[in-house]
Amino acid sequence: MIKIITTITNPKIKFNSKEEFKNFFATNLANEKTDPLRVYNFKLMEKYGEKFFYLIFEKPNTGRLNHIYLTEEEYLESIPLRNAQKHKFENLGILYHVSEPQIINDRVMTKEEYYSLHTHNLVPLDIKIDVDHFLLEIEKYPNYFQRWGDKYKEYPRYAIPLVNLNGKIDNIDDPACYPLDRWNFLQKNIEKTPENFTNFIQNISHFEKDNLFEYDFTVKTELMDLSSLKPLNKIKEFMTRSCILKWDTMGHLLPHFDTWHPAKWLRLWGTTNPENMRLRYKIKGVKGNTINKITGDMEHYETEKNIEPGRLYLHDSLQWHDAFAIEDNVYQFFISLNLNSIDTIRKSMRI
Ligand SMILES: [Fe+2]
Repeated sequence: MIKIITTITNPKIKFNSKEEFKNFFATNLANEKTDPLRVYNFKLMEKYGEKFFYLIFEKPNTGRLNHIYLTEEEYLESIPLRNAQKHKFENLGILYHVSEPQIINDRVMTKEEYYSLHTHNLVPLDIKIDVDHFLLEIEKYPNYFQRWGDKYKEYPRYAIPLVNLNGKIDNIDDPACYPLDRWNFLQKNIEKTPENFTNFIQNISHFEKDNLFEYDFTVKTELMDLSSLKPLNKIKEFMTRSCILKWDTMGHLLPHFDTWHPAKWLRLWGTTNPENMRLRYKIKGVKGNTINKITGDMEHYETEKNIEPGRLYLHDSLQWHDAFAIEDNVYQFFISLNLNSIDTIRKSMRI
């Protein structure tokens, strides 16, 4: 992959936000429907995934456009379009600096690769944990389950790490047992308002090194030695941030997504008690009675059926989904894998 960073500064105007900055350029200088570089890049975003292109805004008037091309041909084709845009912007007094091309070797999945695996919301794998055996073993760890995150403490959601940053199970505030977007947000010097959080998660990029992502967590905890978890051995070497969730009645997660294009990890999910656990995915284009607090939309979600206790599933966590427990002591296997696991997972698929 080849990355180009274009730094644009408008010395005449001070912008209060990235949105203002973006709107100014989109409205006055580079319309997404007519500007040749933007039209070209949009086609590639559509094909490979929108997060190959992102803007970082620096107050008061500078934007860094990050364009990542998958092939040399696609990069080469963008050069004259960028030169033309530079010429146009500079004539209008805008500073426009183009970086040298940088080679990026991050392993990512394109949309095509992603959907060749995620053919359903949940794809069953040939990995199954014996639930009775697991319940007997996990009973020995009641004091190590910690609250999931800093919000919604009125709801009983707990977790214990399988793979985290240091292999310990008694960390206070372990980011492996936390909504990771929220964890990253809390580390930033930003006012902790819902608007700022929404803005933060919409602008996060895993091509930048300023946040923790699933693949940063690689140290196994002693929980991985439970004999009931031996079925995980075939994916153990690929496991990144993973934990066991324990929910009691009313434990839930509101509509969210955990992955985006281009994906840099896979997610597996399973539960000990599917009768008392609902995992629901959004049905696109249908209005419903579930509020999406991130977008403000009223949406329709449907519960996944025929889930087997203890079985692991490849989970399409790029789709909006929510989840809730209607009984106590419902466990979930919340597992992420690095992309070296793709062949193993493909072979483990049962459909
Ligand atoms: Fe999720």
